[in-house]
Amino acid sequence: MEKAIEVKGLRKSFKDTEVLKGVDFEVKRGEIFALLGSNGAGKTTIVRILTTLLKQDGGTAAVNGFDVVSKPGNVRHAISLTGQFAAVDEILTGRENLIMIAKLRHLDHPYQVADNLLKRFGLTDAANRKPSTYSGGMRRRLDIALSLVGKPQIIFLDEPTTGLDPEARIEVWKIVKELADSGTTVFLTTQYLEEAEQLADRIAILHEGRIITTGTLAELKQLFPKTKVEYVEKQPTLEEIFLAIIGKKEAI
Ligand SMILES: Nc1ncnc2c1ncn2[C@@H]1O[C@H](COP(=O)(O)OP(=O)(O)OP(=O)(O)O)[C@@H](O)[C@H]1O
Ligand SMILES: [Mg+2]
Repeated sequence: MEKAIEVKGLRKSFKDTEVLKGVDFEVKRGEIFALLGSNGAGKTTIVRILTTLLKQDGGTAAVNGFDVVSKPGNVRHAISLTGQFAAVDEILTGRENLIMIAKLRHLDHPYQVADNLLKRFGLTDAANRKPSTYSGGMRRRLDIALSLVGKPQIIFLDEPTTGLDPEARIEVWKIVKELADSGTTVFLTTQYLEEAEQLADRIAILHEGRIITTGTLAELKQLFPKTKVEYVEKQPTLEEIFLAIIGKKEAI
């Protein structure tokens, strides 16, 4: 079976700034793949290219087996995107937001779809309130619920927990794990190393326009020599691995 996502030599510049200088990676079906990088590394740019919102300057990207440039309709059919900034409508209630998307997607039972998602995301009690009255965690849950209307095969989550408190972050992590358990491929970007460590089957580190390392957490840990402190073996954290790989060893 083909890969969920296949990216080869992806390049993108904005005016004189070369943001992506030849990005390569693959995402397997059903896995949680985390793209890790600092502010401005180009994570959102990659997400926008893969979700057909932005055209690359060079290289190729295929999502669900379809080229993002020549077959954008097929790509859109297979995916959903939860952007970096919440995309909920403020005038509609939480339930109405879900019903609207279900109708836009021409689903047969929009009300039932909405109510099932509200239940799954613990939003039933808040269903008839406007999102402006929701906490940050509730808004993010609604946002993710909205992107699940119509059961996409591949879901893109651009920094799903930025700005959330630790409790809300854990709630979102639980949802992401459940999604993957039900067979959805999850592509997420994050600046939180702990988030990648908690969630991801595989992690790619984007730095200065290229993917400098890809692997499981265990594989990344092997790149980093274990430090012996007397008789206690110290396991490196992903943060230490990240800083070492991007060359900021002095920060450790
Ligand atoms: N439409 C645009 N026009 C000009 N420059 C842009 C545009 N979009 C992104 N950039 C630039 O490209 C670089 C990468 O931006 P991008 O949003 O992809 O980074 P990011 O890794 O998602 O960062 P963050 O962690 O802050 O979300 C940044 O320097 C940004 O200023
Ligand atoms: Mg971003």
